[in-house]
Amino acid sequence: MTGDEMIALSKRHTLFEWAAQATVDPIPVARAQGIYFWTPEGKRFIDFNSQLMCVNIGHGEARVIRAIQEQAATLAYVNPFMATEPRARLGVKLAEITPGDIDVFFFTSGGSDANENAMKLARMATGRHKILARYRSYHGATAGSVTLTGDPRRWAAEPGIPGVVRVLDPYHGIERGWESAETSLAMIEETIQLEGPHTIAAFILETVVGTNGILIPPDGYLEGVRKLCDKYGILMIADEVMAGFGRTGEWFAVDHWKVVPDLICMAKGLTSSYLPLGAVGMRHHIAQHFQDKVFYGGLTYNSHPMGCAAALATIRVYEEDNLIDNAKKMGAIMKELGRELQAKHPSVGAVRSIGLFGIVELVRSRKTRQPMAPFNGTSDEMAALGRFFREQGLYTLVRWNTFYTNPPLCINEQQLREAFAVIDKGLEITDTVVKD
Ligand SMILES: Cc1ncc(COP(=O)(O)O)c(C=O)c1O
Repeated sequence: MTGDEMIALSKRHTLFEWAAQATVDPIPVARAQGIYFWTPEGKRFIDFNSQLMCVNIGHGEARVIRAIQEQAATLAYVNPFMATEPRARLGVKLAEITPGDIDVFFFTSGGSDANENAMKLARMATGRHKILARYRSYHGATAGSVTLTGDPRRWAAEPGIPGVVRVLDPYHGIERGWESAETSLAMIEETIQLEGPHTIAAFILETVVGTNGILIPPDGYLEGVRKLCDKYGILMIADEVMAGFGRTGEWFAVDHWKVVPDLICMAKGLTSSYLPLGAVGMRHHIAQHFQDKVFYGGLTYNSHPMGCAAALATIRVYEEDNLIDNAKKMGAIMKELGRELQAKHPSVGAVRSIGLFGIVELVRSRKTRQPMAPFNGTSDEMAALGRFFREQGLYTLVRWNTFYTNPPLCINEQQLREAFAVIDKGLEITDTVVKD
């Protein structure tokens, strides 16, 4: 098929996400390898967002493809009431790499239903019903997860499920910036008191917020959330769907602050998205609760043998190729490249990154810090920057006044510099409108 045929038929017979269909402009993709993908006509793109921050090991990894092929040939599927070797081995492996005494896992089809089930587990384990969540967050698109979501993707799904209470984040946008961990924690504690601690089952949060701005919590914040949860008998749910599996330079983002959540949700990097699979990991005390109480939850694809085999092979690749260490090393270089951009380009208002999880926020003025596009909106300049990246073969997410720097963890220094050279040139477009 030609690229044009792919686009025409996909647009005619399939629905694209989060968009009015007349406005979508997909890139046709025929193949991918490493940090690159190609259109059918041979145009090459650097995948500077690992697709949806998920192809962490890079594209076309032969060891994972082989494991999937072998598992398909041996046992493609049995139902979740059965025990299988990939399921057994993946449980053991995840217990080894997740923090603290998290050692029991419920497997799902992806991230949204990992969060759904985490919420269910927390409600059943505590006998309480409310869930605290943050505004600058995305937790998925299913009924419960989209209600947990704080960003505008929630609006169309409202009123959503009952019992979700939202709190503000320590970050208030490019103009107002950050508040301290102490101030933010005090607001959370006040909310807990006003809601009634005995009614709150869990606090769910992205440990490092992904699509709402790569928000790296100030030191003390996650530790403080952990303490508040302990104080009030609230379970802490870490949504590591995007931040997990080496993205931040540790297996899980919570590892940077040595915090052990009660429940941890994962997907994306778990299989590097070669196959759909998510999981909720739980600490021993929660798993114990379900020894004599029924876990009312299930999915046809729970513990899918091919998904589990893909996850095992993917985790082996992280280990054999030291990809988490590479994310840390390349992350240090990316931080420096970000600093250089900020020093050179007046439109760069903020650059944040941890490991290979990064973002650039653009402003119209360094003085007022007015964003280059409004909250939940775009502007001519951001659209022009997006077009430039695309023309130059750099694929990344351009959202509101920001764009992302999230390459596969197998990237090398030369490739990183090649991508930043395109960004450096592109920022000349947004620099032209900066007033002061
Ligand atoms: C932090 C976070 N949680 C949950 C999800 C939802 O995962 P999925 O799209 O696999 O359902 C996402 C997806 O982007 C995410 O970034």
